[in-house]
Amino acid sequence: MEIFLDTANVKEIRQGAKLGVVSGVTTNPSLLSKEGNADYEAVVKEICTIIPGPVSAEVVVEGAEAMIEQARKIAAWAPNVVIKIPATAEGLEVTSALAREKIKVNFTLCFSLNQALLGALAGAAFVSPFVGRLDDAGHDGMELVEDIVDVFDYYQLPTKVIAASIRHPEHCLAAAKAGAHIATVPYKVLMQMTKHPLTDVGVARFLSDWQGISRGKGK
Ligand code: G3P
Repeated sequence: MEIFLDTANVKEIRQGAKLGVVSGVTTNPSLLSKEGNADYEAVVKEICTIIPGPVSAEVVVEGAEAMIEQARKIAAWAPNVVIKIPATAEGLEVTSALAREKIKVNFTLCFSLNQALLGALAGAAFVSPFVGRLDDAGHDGMELVEDIVDVFDYYQLPTKVIAASIRHPEHCLAAAKAGAHIATVPYKVLMQMTKHPLTDVGVARFLSDWQGISRGKGK
């Protein structure tokens, strides 16, 4: 399973990139507003220079024609930009039009297997089931990821499944076990994934034992 960072924070993306495990980024208008930066184009272009893999940027207009027009403009920002289109009927129309133009779509805000299947049939490169938001609503978000992976696998659909709206490390391992192609995770969760208390205790003990030997040698 690949790891994408789910953030519009350039500092976090630079930091995450240094770990060598981040192969893409997903953004959305809410993540951008958290950064207090209204220049979506500048932010996305900068992210695309840091991460060579897919970088998702969302259309922020309504109406199929306007969405297609905006998507074309966003797609021209960088060769690795992917366009986030919401999982609606209008979104399907936009997705299929963009797919015909070879513009990659991340079919987002997916909350059902039917939406994901339709997104794949319309030619989306990625579908994004929102795990945490389904959990919040009293459903099992990861069950949806499992179902989408199984169905895409069964029908050999090339669309990749991005487990999105990831809230904690447990979500990441469940996404990996479910066979998600990608989990897009907040920076905080990525750092939590690196942690184990026994590793910290082990490192501290090795260091102190080594210092003990070094002191002995110095005698
Ligand atoms: O990738 C989708 C993500 O940004 C939504 O996360 O936590 O707002 O449900 P959240």
